[in-house]
Amino acid sequence: MTNYNKSWCAQGSESNGIRLAIVGIGNCASSLVQGITCYGNMNDAGGVPGIIHPLVGSYSIGSIKPIVGFDIDERKVGKDISEAIFKKPNVTTKFSDVPNLDARVFMGPILDGLPKHMALIDPEMSFVASKERPVDVAKVLRDYSIDVVVNYLPVGSKKATEFYANAAIDARCAFVNCIPIFIASDEKWIQTFEEAGLPVLGDDVKSQLGATWTHRVLIQAFLDRGVRILDTKQENYAGNTDFLNMMDPERIKTKLASKKSSIEHLIEDHKNGGYEIPPVYAGPAQGENNHGYVPGRNDRKMARITINGVSFGNQPINIKAELEVEDSPNSAGIVVDAIRCAKLSLNRGVKGAVPSASSFFFKHPYEKIPDSEAIIRLESFIRGDIRR
Ligand SMILES: NC(=O)c1ccc[n+]([C@@H]2O[C@H](COP(=O)([O-])OP(=O)(O)OC[C@H]3O[C@@H](n4cnc5c(N)ncnc54)[C@H](O)[C@@H]3O)[C@@H](O)[C@H]2O)c1
Repeated sequence: MTNYNKSWCAQGSESNGIRLAIVGIGNCASSLVQGITCYGNMNDAGGVPGIIHPLVGSYSIGSIKPIVGFDIDERKVGKDISEAIFKKPNVTTKFSDVPNLDARVFMGPILDGLPKHMALIDPEMSFVASKERPVDVAKVLRDYSIDVVVNYLPVGSKKATEFYANAAIDARCAFVNCIPIFIASDEKWIQTFEEAGLPVLGDDVKSQLGATWTHRVLIQAFLDRGVRILDTKQENYAGNTDFLNMMDPERIKTKLASKKSSIEHLIEDHKNGGYEIPPVYAGPAQGENNHGYVPGRNDRKMARITINGVSFGNQPINIKAELEVEDSPNSAGIVVDAIRCAKLSLNRGVKGAVPSASSFFFKHPYEKIPDSEAIIRLESFIRGDIRR
């Protein structure tokens, strides 16, 4: 944990809050809960770093109330969320104190959430299963009158994600899917949420200014300036459980698909694109014994992006960019907005997909559009000019 400067943090609450359940009390949940506490109900971003929307509708960041959590790790289950977020193997930076929230972490069903390879490769960083019996998740969601369920399970947790999505439907909650298991971009799941009369946002968070965003901005520049892309790579490194988990080639398949599609569709859809899609790689760093997991690097992620192309006169042009960022706060900066958009959708009776918000906040939305269009649609949605 690094030192933090809390001079810009505000405390506060709003009575008419958003009742939140968090599935997976890992690093992303830690940054989210710290951010909610820290920003409080501040509704003016002046001088405050890191916020896109101080208000979404009438909701400040402090309107979000973590009410219950679900996890399977013995160090987290049974604790208050304020305590569980600072337990191992979480390693993300501490930037805010969090008071007791009176928000318990319940034992969820493990299903495919605990990959065996983690303990074999790095036992210190592995999840450790609690011996408690799983609770009835839908009942807990109903008992605590939850509005929005956020899914932060490890990559590859298909069965578990589907289980929690069904529980959210059962308990009449909106579902925000931060991970690359396809729910909010899957026709069948969208229909299921539509029939239930509930909104679903996702899939796979596009962090505030992360590797995907940076890569997309650079690709868009090549396209807008008529430079043909020959090939491009985005290789990521970190030392958190997310990267340890992603060493399993089976679990990572949909992550790679999600990241790749978020680059490829820009080229496919652009008037200066339209040519055969060049080779694109975006994911954990490739290479023998590597896979992007760097023990000791903790949550400090590094992305190396290269784009090779040809410009006027068939001349070679190459860009090499390096991004270094604390991974989990970077995603929480988006999730605080996605949660508030999910609640606006609930209030407005939106059923099924919410394309305006999902296209801006997620890597693999149902409708993929350039970010410059997505932000315009998002702002229209927040103002209420468009319904979804
Ligand atoms: N950090 C980012 O910027 C970013 C961006 C996009 C997507 N994501 C995705 O968000 C997800 C969460 O990331 P993270 O860094 O917090 O991961 P993490 O490994 O820190 O946390 C995962 C948590 O899920 C818990 N868990 C495992 N199985 C469970 C189950 N069945 N029920 C309840 N809890 C269970 C684990 O014990 C752990 O606490 C990952 O899938 C990640 O790929 C993160």
